[in-house]
Amino acid sequence: MSTLDTDVLLTRSPEAEADSQFIRRWSPRAMSGEAVTLGEIEQLVEAARWAPSCFNSQPWRFIYALRDTPQWQPMFDLIMDMNQAWAKDAGVLVAIVARTTFEHNDAPAPTYGFDTGSAWMSFALQAQSMGLVTHAMWGVEHDQAPAVLNLGEVYKLQAMVAVGHPGDKQDLPQPLQDREVPSPRKAFSELAFAGQLPAEPQS
Ligand SMILES: Cc1cc2nc3c(=O)[nH]c(=O)nc-3n(C[C@H](O)[C@H](O)[C@H](O)COP(=O)(O)O)c2cc1C
Repeated sequence: MSTLDTDVLLTRSPEAEADSQFIRRWSPRAMSGEAVTLGEIEQLVEAARWAPSCFNSQPWRFIYALRDTPQWQPMFDLIMDMNQAWAKDAGVLVAIVARTTFEHNDAPAPTYGFDTGSAWMSFALQAQSMGLVTHAMWGVEHDQAPAVLNLGEVYKLQAMVAVGHPGDKQDLPQPLQDREVPSPRKAFSELAFAGQLPAEPQS
């Protein structure tokens, strides 16, 4: 078992056997500011593009901005202050956007979020296998994103993702240092049910 596995098990308690990559993945904010290369982005997208999707429609798109390139600042400016405080040390920012209609008939594609979410998870796990960390952000200026990212009418921002090399927790603002641990999860008994959901508790 690696050191990372051991650290993760301080705050995470597996309830059944599953591949450790799932339990080890988490969303650190501490990143080193080291570059992420275009080749590495290609590897992350390679993993993501094999995700399943309704009618194999592949609604996911990845809009990236490597640090120290002209694309960085406009995408960084889309991120809300609370996330900029740590995302500034990412190696690349990736806006994950989804096509909301099917390309073959322009009809609404009701599963675009489900499909794109599965691609994001492949992306994140591939990053982890390469020693990179990922942290998704909803905290972005969604009203400005369509113009900055050229989304047009049919593409919708799902999340911005900071990808980077692991950094030092001590370099984060103090309140974020306290939150820099893998989070727990609901119990299996709260998540999986035979046949039907249980009745919601009456308030
Ligand atoms: C779609 C999405 C949006 C998120 N938005 C933010 C965000 O704006 N800021 C932030 O600090 N974390 C954000 N997160 C990270 C979640 O808080 C985190 O994934 C969750 O607490 C579970 O922790 P883990 O990823 O470390 O296992 C987001 C995650 C997802 C998947």
